Amino acid sequence: MPWKEQLTAYSSLVEQQLTSYIQLEEDKGQGLIFEACRYSAMAGGKRLRPALVLEFCRICGGEQKAALPFACALEMIHTYSLIHDDLPCMDDDDLRRGKPTNHKVYGEAMAVLAGDGLLNLAFETASDPANAAYVSAETQVKAIRILSRASGMHGMIGGQVLDMQAEETQISLEQLKVLQELKTGALIGAAAQLGCLIGGATPEQTDAALEYARCIGLAFQIQDDILDIEGDAEIFGKPIGSDAANSKSTYPSLLGLERCHELVHELSQQAVDALAPFSDAGILPELAMSLADRKS
Ligand code: IPE
Ligand code: IPE
Ligand code: MG
Ligand code: MG
Ligand code: MG
Repeated sequence: MPWKEQLTAYSSLVEQQLTSYIQLEEDKGQGLIFEACRYSAMAGGKRLRPALVLEFCRICGGEQKAALPFACALEMIHTYSLIHDDLPCMDDDDLRRGKPTNHKVYGEAMAVLAGDGLLNLAFETASDPANAAYVSAETQVKAIRILSRASGMHGMIGGQVLDMQAEETQISLEQLKVLQELKTGALIGAAAQLGCLIGGATPEQTDAALEYARCIGLAFQIQDDILDIEGDAEIFGKPIGSDAANSKSTYPSLLGLERCHELVHELSQQAVDALAPFSDAGILPELAMSLADRKS
């Protein structure tokens, strides 16, 4: 299947599953939190992370049904991170995935709870006993550990802390790289690792997948920072100028836009090269190259 069609197919599959996971089972009056979670989860993200889980699993010869719950759990965690990232106490943004941010619609308290709700639902989904039909209990525990470590203080949350601490200060390029590797790289790395785990990759393939993820993760965040300056809010689905307004430390602020464009291309190419241990890398090379030119 051509890569764009494959991506669309993954998106619809993940969206269908997310809708069924974010369902109120017994109405005790708490329906609003499910509505708030669905509002952000179904707002039309690119679904990059679940696509990586599913594609790495596929090229390693694994079953899609085995990877799907973990792909959805990762997307729930990513969505929660965005809801919290947009709060007034963090980036204070009003637009996300082309729609008003969660707290703009449901208020700050509900947005905090919606984020917390999605985080917990992610682990409920990943630990579902029904997954036992497709993965061993041992693999399930390993997958849950990958998810929790990448999302937590050693991963995404740690990166968000560094991001907040780097506001209004000059940090070195080396410090910025660590910040980005945690903030954005950790979840993208987890996507590759989960796909490899469930697909039964060799250690050499897993290392290659992690190197691919490291390169696209960095390229992805640099491109995000570029689009925060020269993007179009209509297409980007987020406000332009948020980083400058918050005096964030970003690659463009340190290296300038021109060098950043070059870096994104270099890293995308490096990501493609890293895939050598896979005889068929599926849509992953095209996906890496497309991220370099993305506008949304
Ligand atoms: C946004 O991630 C946060 C960053 C790490 C830059 P995405 O650009 O993947 O957001 P969605 O899921 O498509 O909305
Ligand atoms: C945040 O990075 C990435 C997360 C861990 C949520 P940004 O703050 O740059 O993400 P956007 O631009 O708001 O999506
Ligand atoms: Mg942020
Ligand atoms: Mg932000
Ligand atoms: Mg950004």
